[in-house]
Amino acid sequence: MIKTIEIRGGRGKRGEPESVAAVRLAMGQVASVVGPTGSGKTTLINDFEIFADGSTPTGRVVLVDGEPAGDDLRDDPASHPIALITQHTNFLSDLPVLEFLHTHARVRGGSGFGLDAVTNEVLAFANELTGEPIEPGWRMTELSGGQTRALLIADAVVIGNAPIILLDEIENAGIHRMRALELLRRYEKIFVFVTHDPYIALLSDVRIVMSGGAMAKLLTTSDPERRLAHRLRAVDESLLALRERIRLGESLEESHLEVA
Ligand SMILES: Nc1ncnc2c1ncn2[C@@H]1O[C@H](COP(=O)(O)OP(=O)(O)OP(=O)(O)O)[C@@H](O)[C@H]1O
Ligand SMILES: [Mg+2]
Repeated sequence: MIKTIEIRGGRGKRGEPESVAAVRLAMGQVASVVGPTGSGKTTLINDFEIFADGSTPTGRVVLVDGEPAGDDLRDDPASHPIALITQHTNFLSDLPVLEFLHTHARVRGGSGFGLDAVTNEVLAFANELTGEPIEPGWRMTELSGGQTRALLIADAVVIGNAPIILLDEIENAGIHRMRALELLRRYEKIFVFVTHDPYIALLSDVRIVMSGGAMAKLLTTSDPERRLAHRLRAVDESLLALRERIRLGESLEESHLEVA
């Protein structure tokens, strides 16, 4: 079982050494990657995903439990410890949802792996994140962008046993991110969120601040920030309620904006 993953700084876009020399994450920790558009967030998590060994343009090196990842980790998809939910998900499989999940669960296999129980758990998880529920008989290609990502997140967490999960801007997929965070927290894994969202950022243990392609700063979430996150939740819920009314085609009035 993996205990830590570490990324050693390389260089930014202009070739300058990164200010942050290394970031080490332990099992159970949540990290956010923040920074303006084009600052290198996706590139950073791609380095994690491929276990960069100094040969990518960034020169970063990823260590698993203090050691460079061996070829076995890198090349064998079944033992690959990292699941990446990308910013732009194009799904190639045309299988019905249920069959896709069954196939994946069977590949992951193992005894005592109740297929139906597992696929039900994935669907229930995914449907907590979407506005419109996913039907098990739909084809994967029929899912909306948000539904696809909700299903892939649930699938990665419940069926794939990858201990490290990288999520690139889930907030833009229109999935319910507060529910996502709550549900994800129940699974003991390392999560790395690329995010523009203050709520996700403040609920993380640390945040990596990107600038010019480099890790510019490493911040640890402070207690006041955690309290602020709590209040953000109330703001967010009231926004969500407004959004829901808009979605349902209602007209709004001032009294609908209530922040607890
Ligand atoms: N350290 C680096 N060295 C060289 N090129 C880099 C480096 N970091 C990022 N880049 C390049 O900069 C461009 C933007 O990076 P990236 O897509 O990672 O940004 P982003 O923060 O994810 O942006 P967005 O918010 O739009 O998703 C990419 O072409 C990427 O290859
Ligand atoms: Mg990106």
